[in-house]
Amino acid sequence: MPTSDRIYLDYAATTPCDPDVVTAMLPYFGDVFGNPSSIHRDGQRGWQAVERARKAIASALNCASGEIVFTSGGSESDNLALRGVVLAAQRNKQRPHLITTAVEHHAIGRTLAQLHTDFNCDVTYLPVDQHGLVSAAQVAAAIRPETRLVTVIYANNEIGSIQPIADLAHVCKEAGVLLHIDAVQAASQLTIDVDALGVDLMSLGAHKFYGPKGVGALYIRRGTPITVTQTGGAQEQGLRAGTHNVPLIVGMGKAIDVVVAQREAYNAHVQHLRDLLIEQVLTTIPDAQLTGHPTQRLPNHASFVFKNIDGNDLLMRLDMVGISASSGSACSTGNPEPSGVIKALGLPQDWQLGSLRLTVGKHTTQAEIATTVQKLREIITKMRATSPAVQRETV
Ligand SMILES: Cc1ncc(COP(=O)(O)O)c(C=O)c1O
Repeated sequence: MPTSDRIYLDYAATTPCDPDVVTAMLPYFGDVFGNPSSIHRDGQRGWQAVERARKAIASALNCASGEIVFTSGGSESDNLALRGVVLAAQRNKQRPHLITTAVEHHAIGRTLAQLHTDFNCDVTYLPVDQHGLVSAAQVAAAIRPETRLVTVIYANNEIGSIQPIADLAHVCKEAGVLLHIDAVQAASQLTIDVDALGVDLMSLGAHKFYGPKGVGALYIRRGTPITVTQTGGAQEQGLRAGTHNVPLIVGMGKAIDVVVAQREAYNAHVQHLRDLLIEQVLTTIPDAQLTGHPTQRLPNHASFVFKNIDGNDLLMRLDMVGISASSGSACSTGNPEPSGVIKALGLPQDWQLGSLRLTVGKHTTQAEIATTVQKLREIITKMRATSPAVQRETV
């Protein structure tokens, strides 16, 4: 639980572990410590716990248990999906072409950049519209005979927009191209039924849905050509070597059970607060714009840009008054740069640095929203009063 002396509005960065998840994990830090790969009874107790968690995840995804590979989190799942599919294609002497968007998380973007520069892959980056979305028509037009994989972020971590995954899947299926989605942000709120979505690979990370950090999963549709990238033991059907992290896997299984059971009530709670937040920010703070799609966005996600505001400075000032938030600009001392996602939206230069992400969750209250809007308004007014850019505009 976030501490009561602060307002935590960064649930997209991470969520606190649900108390039931902590309770479920505890025995596996103690008495039940056997290695699931050992054949003795102690080992088998660990193995059974891992398989129960796998079943819980498979049930939430509407897939078979054998299609789930446990990983260390969203980044590793993304890496295994991209590198594994590329390795499998190269084994068949193909030079793979991959398609992605201009608004991916670094776990995808930097992996693809390396696959291009060092591993002889061709990558197409699709531009997005003003809301950060791509269309099925764009994907269809980019597919070539040598295209192996399309990889798209399901719900955007910075701007909350939800891509039209089922439409993209239709195009990919028609062309015989694999579709991977990064569902790391989506899993807490949106459907993750892999058949309804029509995807071949999907990445998850437990700490974004009230599970523990350091554990995730990759869904791999049966029959998908993929090669192991972390070699060693034969765990996870030979696709991910390494002794299972039993407590964390158990925690992920419990977290997905809780998230699925509570989804409707959770979404109603967060969407109400998010709408309040967006409405109050846009009506009380001048020169503020919502980023991402106005309606096709994560129920808990509010993101903005403010004209002539330095997002990093804004974050530090919010932190000083007890509010944890996030920005789309990377903090590199003396040289603030807008993120690739913010740049891709085509905003004017004087808006790009002033991005702010406020993501609400289980423990957020209406009173916290009211305090946040008030503090934000005060801080922005003060910052603009001393901003050289604003001074220049007013003369
Ligand atoms: C969309 C998305 N993908 C991947 C990741 C990486 O997840 P992790 O840091 O758990 O490896 C994140 C984390 O912020 C994310 O938001």
